[in-house]
Amino acid sequence: MIAAIIAAAGSGERFGAPIPKALIHLGDKTLLAHAIANLAPVVDQIVVTAPAGYEAQIKEIAGDEVVVVTGGATRSDSVRIALAAVNESAEFVLVHDAARSLASTALAQSVIDALHAGDVAVIPGMPEVDTVKVVDAGGYVVSTPDRASLRKVQTPQGFAYSVLKAAHSVPQDATDDAVLVANAGHMVRIIDGEERALKITTPSDLATAMTFIGNAQSFRTGVGTDAHAFGEGRELWLAGLSWPGEVGVDGHSDGDVAAHAICDALFAATSTGDLGSNFGTSRPEYAGASGIQLLQETLNIVTKAGYSISNVTVQIIGNRPRIGARRAEAIAAISSALGGAPVSILATTTDGMGITGEGKGIAAIASALVFK
Ligand code: CTP
Ligand code: MG
Repeated sequence: MIAAIIAAAGSGERFGAPIPKALIHLGDKTLLAHAIANLAPVVDQIVVTAPAGYEAQIKEIAGDEVVVVTGGATRSDSVRIALAAVNESAEFVLVHDAARSLASTALAQSVIDALHAGDVAVIPGMPEVDTVKVVDAGGYVVSTPDRASLRKVQTPQGFAYSVLKAAHSVPQDATDDAVLVANAGHMVRIIDGEERALKITTPSDLATAMTFIGNAQSFRTGVGTDAHAFGEGRELWLAGLSWPGEVGVDGHSDGDVAAHAICDALFAATSTGDLGSNFGTSRPEYAGASGIQLLQETLNIVTKAGYSISNVTVQIIGNRPRIGARRAEAIAAISSALGGAPVSILATTTDGMGITGEGKGIAAIASALVFK
């Protein structure tokens, strides 16, 4: 029988999210759910270490078949705690990081195959492409190991159960389990690792991981436009800002064409209707709502539909007002209404042609990119 320990008790400090890293979504499921799904086909028992306080949430993701234990202060502590819950009849134990969510079932199988072939410790490793220096505390290079002899190691790492148990019998801290087994005098076999077993440490690693799960299908784009005619005696609201001294536009809302175009682009990208169907006359609670309020509500609708915003752009078309001097302020207002999404704002005139060129009003065209 083969057991697997999935270390998921870290807080994900370097990732910087308000929730533990294992609970972060990659595509349609959490990092932990990916890790479990990838190991489950080749092991008989899975033990997951949960961050203290998140046991119930982790159980919910892991399902009834998986044993959930509360992790320890360090990764090594967590693995030691999990080992105590591993079935005594286990022959081999794989130790895996939830953070290496996309390590494939095939990689786990290769580790198991090498264990069956007689090795007591088997770990995946990737060739090092950079030249690596050993440095001293004062910041000087001590030596330059031969790059060809270096490997960046990954998980799942596989061990004979008795060997791993003995290596963890004395509490000691290490960044992987192979070093403890090696220190106990065992040979550690390296097999070929894989790019997709990358460790997700920062948001940019998550973006890289997305490229392995066919993110092209989960990205969607949309375009939205809006136009309003100038109306004397109205205050101008545009791109989330008030523009004192400028002529405002007609309409029952604040007439913020930039905000409205972005809302429609987001609705288009997520197939959630349009401005009219979401905030029109059948929804009186939105009568007179500001552009910023509509953006906030649009973000809610888009989020409920399961999408995150990658970025939005809006181009404002008209002779007045001049946007340039207040671009940063407008970007900040719209981005904050959209939960911090990246926003670009551009402006142009139309060389005296068309409605906005004749000075009769303002228009805007927006695009949005979202992902599931
Ligand atoms: N881990 C664990 N128990 C700990 C610390 C880490 O089970 N006390 C797990 C993490 O959940 C992760 C794996 O060990 O899946 C590798 O750790 P790392 O990538 O460093 O994750 P975190 O410790 O969560 O991240 P950070 O170091 O940025 O806080
Ligand atoms: Mg850590």
